Amino acid sequence: MTQLFSVRGFSKHFGAVAALEDVDFEVEAGEVVALVGDNGAGKSTLIKALSGIQPADEGEAFFDGEPVSLKSPQDASTLGIATVYQDLALSDNLDVVANLFLGREIVTSRIDPRLDETTMEERSTDLLSTLSVHLRSLRAVAGSLSGGQRQSVAIARSLLGDPRVVLLDEPTAALGVAQTAQVLDLIKRLRERGLGVVVISHNLADVFQVADRIVVLRLGRRVGTFDRTASQDRVVSAITGVEVEEEAK
Ligand SMILES: Nc1ncnc2c1ncn2[C@@H]1O[C@H](COP(=O)(O)OP(=O)(O)OP(=O)(O)O)[C@@H](O)[C@H]1O
Ligand SMILES: [Mg+2]
Repeated sequence: MTQLFSVRGFSKHFGAVAALEDVDFEVEAGEVVALVGDNGAGKSTLIKALSGIQPADEGEAFFDGEPVSLKSPQDASTLGIATVYQDLALSDNLDVVANLFLGREIVTSRIDPRLDETTMEERSTDLLSTLSVHLRSLRAVAGSLSGGQRQSVAIARSLLGDPRVVLLDEPTAALGVAQTAQVLDLIKRLRERGLGVVVISHNLADVFQVADRIVVLRLGRRVGTFDRTASQDRVVSAITGVEVEEEAK
């Protein structure tokens, strides 16, 4: 099977800091890959490189087995790579429908363009219900939603462009237990839809709940790859660079 999306030898330097050093990364269709590592390990830098926001200095990218360019956000979105950042970019004073369709509004006619609220509302209802996202009202302003609801709307919005890969930078940071569960469920549904999903998280319990594979970065390098049956201790070792199993022998 051809790999959906992969990069090879990605490097990114900020002055003397090597934020990424010769990193290979890959995600398949219908797979959730967790990207983990300590603060400053290079996770966000990798996501930004994969989404073309802050292109890598070096390296090659492949989509459906073909070499591709990832030099701009436009490159990524044309390929079908969508990104949800931690600062969700919802507009607090706009309602859910307006947020979902922000920048891709549907209009009634080209001659006398007016927002087609009915169609946008119907599509919003469909989209959120296929994702099992329950909101009291689609006409509630985003500012009135809970953190988990906001995150769900932000993720739903990324799906409107029909992406094949979704990159999520810490989607559960700052969420409570129930809200986190809601977002993890949503991630599982993205996998069921056959999307390739990359998710950054600091919470290993979340990671083990949702990920098919775990990739560890440390100081800009990829230092470990684990499947979901790996022990949490081994993943922690890779993250910290400290061998924890020595004494258990
Ligand atoms: N725009 C920038 N200018 C200078 N240095 C940067 C820039 N962006 C990232 N870095 C540096 O690159 C390294 C990796 O940062 P990055 O944000 O990718 O880490 P991270 O793994 O996402 O960490 P966290 O878990 O804290 O979000 C850090 O040393 C950081 O200081
Ligand atoms: Mg980060």
